[in-house]
Amino acid sequence: MIIVKGRNGNLLKVDGFRLRVYEELNLLPVRMRLKAIEDAGWNTFLLKADDVFLDMLTDSGVNAMSDKQLAAMVSAQDAYAGSRTFYEFTKAVEDVLGMKYVIPVHQGRAAEHVISKVFVKEGYVVPMNYHFTTTKAHIELAGGRIIEIPVKEALDRRSRYSFKGDIDVVKLEEVLRSYKSRVAFVRIEALANLLGGQPVSMRNIREVRELCDKYGVPLVVDGSMIDWNVYFIKEREPGYSSKSLEEIVKEFVGYADILYISARKTSSARGGFIATNNRGYYEKIIVHIPVYEGFLTYGGMSIKEIAAIAVGLREAFKENLIGSELELIKYVTEELDRNGVPVVLPPGGLGVHLDALEFLPHLSRDKYPAGSLTAALYIASGIRAMERGTLSMDRDKDGKEVYPDLELVRIAFPRKTYLRSHADYVVDRVLWLYEHRDLIKGLKWVYEPPILRFFLGRLDDIGDWGESLVKVYESELGVY
Ligand SMILES: Cc1ncc(COP(=O)(O)O)c(C=O)c1O
Repeated sequence: MIIVKGRNGNLLKVDGFRLRVYEELNLLPVRMRLKAIEDAGWNTFLLKADDVFLDMLTDSGVNAMSDKQLAAMVSAQDAYAGSRTFYEFTKAVEDVLGMKYVIPVHQGRAAEHVISKVFVKEGYVVPMNYHFTTTKAHIELAGGRIIEIPVKEALDRRSRYSFKGDIDVVKLEEVLRSYKSRVAFVRIEALANLLGGQPVSMRNIREVRELCDKYGVPLVVDGSMIDWNVYFIKEREPGYSSKSLEEIVKEFVGYADILYISARKTSSARGGFIATNNRGYYEKIIVHIPVYEGFLTYGGMSIKEIAAIAVGLREAFKENLIGSELELIKYVTEELDRNGVPVVLPPGGLGVHLDALEFLPHLSRDKYPAGSLTAALYIASGIRAMERGTLSMDRDKDGKEVYPDLELVRIAFPRKTYLRSHADYVVDRVLWLYEHRDLIKGLKWVYEPPILRFFLGRLDDIGDWGESLVKVYESELGVY
């Protein structure tokens, strides 16, 4: 944002870019939205994008790209091995993030796969602020177990604590002391996705680094949304307001032994990479790349995307370009909170997060409140959000449900994609749904996959409540 003084003495935050390409949106009538979600097994992942009005499923791979990124894609050099574009990309990683060994992978979870293969063994643990779905899956597939130790404020959706992504360092030391050599690595996710897009402070990563040094354990940072994390450090952490985002990100990443990034998120392209300054770790990891990803100079990505990542990384930490979507998230979150809708506070990055347990207190957790609310929101608005609750967990070894700490619906705001009118529409339709929340009755399984079930699972509405919701909607708001 470009921040200037307004004529009333207030601060004006103005987007430091303009739009020159647009995509037409299509709002289906509410009855067709019901049909679409039924055909999709009440799972928003299975909707066709053409049936979606505002696609707020995720920021992954759907951020707006810059003119410079698109230009770089045209002049990218295709080569199986040794492409010039790859070296431009490694130079960008070194310039922006300060890491000199760069390993390309096809997306974030591919990084998690190879890092888990190298560091995790049967019986090992990985302490972390909080898991992400694919991270947990890869650590467990490698025989390990995650230990989540966020600060206590993180699990209280009302707490306005500035850095709810922080690790509880007292608990971390206990874990390091008791598991000793069975700690594969410590993982910090910056920003913490499933905690509601909440940032990690510089102070916290510094303290975690000290503990990692004391106990001889590597520190791995998942920086898939590190652009937003450093924005919040600058905005909220004492001592950082006058530093540039470029300086802040370098300091933050400097505490990590290994950094990995889903470039579908930070850098607004499609791909991913692992980076380190440790030659030993680099050599251990690269042996897996030709097996699972591709040759070392493309790692399963299109060279065009590699060119876009290089430019996107350089742009990601520019003060005038960052923050547009964060202002929209703040606006919607504060409006919903003011009207009594349960949302995760303070407004973070990635999206607006509804607390489905409080939104739908009449639903027990085995009826999947967050999944039900996500489907209902699509019917009531054409907005595609994402379930981030019980459906996003898999059952335990005995087939029992694992109920996560938070049962959330995430309404994502991809980078530079939506406008203020869209934000107003989100507020209006969520408020309408909140007034009619008693109509939402829960979901039951039709097909339940054994792993990462939220992606492909199919469900049905208990008692045909989708039909009642549509009838009330049509009578109050009309066919759209
Ligand atoms: C924090 C975090 N880590 C890892 C991933 C996985 O990245 P990808 O979807 O590129 O595989 C994501 C994806 O959303 C994420 O948010």
